[in-house]
Amino acid sequence: MKVLVLGSGGREHALAWKLGQSPKVSKVYVAPGNSGTALDAENVPISEKDFPALIQFCKKTGIDLVVVGPEAPLAAGAVDAFAQAGIRAFGPSKKAARIEGSKIFCKEVLNKACVPTARAQAFYSAQEGYRYVDEGEECGYVVKADGLAAGKGVVVAGSRAETKEAIRQIAEDRAFGDAGANYLIEERLVGQEASVLAITDGHTIATLQPAQDHKAAYDGDRGPNTGGMGAYCPASLVDDDKLRWIEERVLLPTVATLNRLDCQFKGVLYAGLMMTPQGPRVLEYNARFGDPECQPLLFRLKTDLVELIEATIDERLSEIEPLVWDERPAVCVVMASEGYPGSYKKGFPISGLEEAAKLPDVKVFHAGAKLVDGQVLTNGGRVLDVVALGDSVADAKRRAYEAVEKISWQGSWYRTDVADKEIMAVQNH
Ligand code: AMP
Ligand code: GLY
Repeated sequence: MKVLVLGSGGREHALAWKLGQSPKVSKVYVAPGNSGTALDAENVPISEKDFPALIQFCKKTGIDLVVVGPEAPLAAGAVDAFAQAGIRAFGPSKKAARIEGSKIFCKEVLNKACVPTARAQAFYSAQEGYRYVDEGEECGYVVKADGLAAGKGVVVAGSRAETKEAIRQIAEDRAFGDAGANYLIEERLVGQEASVLAITDGHTIATLQPAQDHKAAYDGDRGPNTGGMGAYCPASLVDDDKLRWIEERVLLPTVATLNRLDCQFKGVLYAGLMMTPQGPRVLEYNARFGDPECQPLLFRLKTDLVELIEATIDERLSEIEPLVWDERPAVCVVMASEGYPGSYKKGFPISGLEEAAKLPDVKVFHAGAKLVDGQVLTNGGRVLDVVALGDSVADAKRRAYEAVEKISWQGSWYRTDVADKEIMAVQNH
């Protein structure tokens, strides 16, 4: 069969690479793709948001399955549009994708499902929020723009003054555009974060092994938030007992509640969790694979992803065998452009990719990079995702950095402590 992946990041390169390994797949296309997907699949120069052009391409080429990577096309109704055109597509409908597209809707679902989460209140004007904070305790809150803001619409504020400043930025200055017209103010939680993703057909869940992202830009979790500077899996922070608890108390009630709200969710349900002393709490849901968590997860997943996806679309996930994983842990290090997550320049040639590719059990997934006349050039903030397997997480880390050190371009940088928390946890165990 012929498969089309939508998107252009490291997650989409990993999806294209993994889908291409399925014995059922004869060809993988990626729209619009990047330098990595140009090498491992075939790029199609159509934006992931141009549904009419994508549908036309699918019909002309005989695409059997579309896999939507990022949240924006899901929120814009990509899966509904393909379905209407008679094309099978993987991901939630526009209605179900609101679990990520509206943080107020997400909180309503969590509360209706009795899923443990931070206490929160929704606001529809800046003034209401200021009043709430003035009348409340002098403490830190978290202010969240309701709509999609490329992972940037959340401000963790340390005091009343900082909270009011965040409300001003989000709701008055509209730092994230209309996404901030409505917003949540929520209780601030403390703890380590984990990502638990499950593939679901709206009835059954196939939970992926827990992963951990590294959202802060610099070592020691310092600096501004980014899209993610590294990830690893499995994350021992979520042991088997906690994972079962998360399935029973978090994922399954959420899937059932979405059904009751006539928003059946088919696709990847990604719970962003805070492991607090009182137990796991959901911070947010995403409606797709995490980036960069997807890269180490798919590098370890042995089960055929096409089988999983087809079973999800056909609502027969209950018939699928338990997922099979490479026992070895995987570590993913993100290499970024100078200046990221602020402004940065693009177009620098990248060297060392061939040398890194020679290392066994290592894969360099491309993200913000493009191929021009056979040369890979930087084309974004997060440029490459270097993934390695190892006999232990420390070994996987060592091997990932061995590959990273072979690669460079003008201004390239990366965190040097990816997976250190896991390595310490394993040592102390
Ligand atoms: P979200 O997009 O909701 O996951 O928020 C982005 C980041 O903000 C999370 O990864 C956390 O680091 C932080 N965050 C979100 N909600 C809270 C909360 N209630 N308490 C503390 N930190 C939070
Ligand atoms: N890694 C965080 C996200 O994909 O939203």
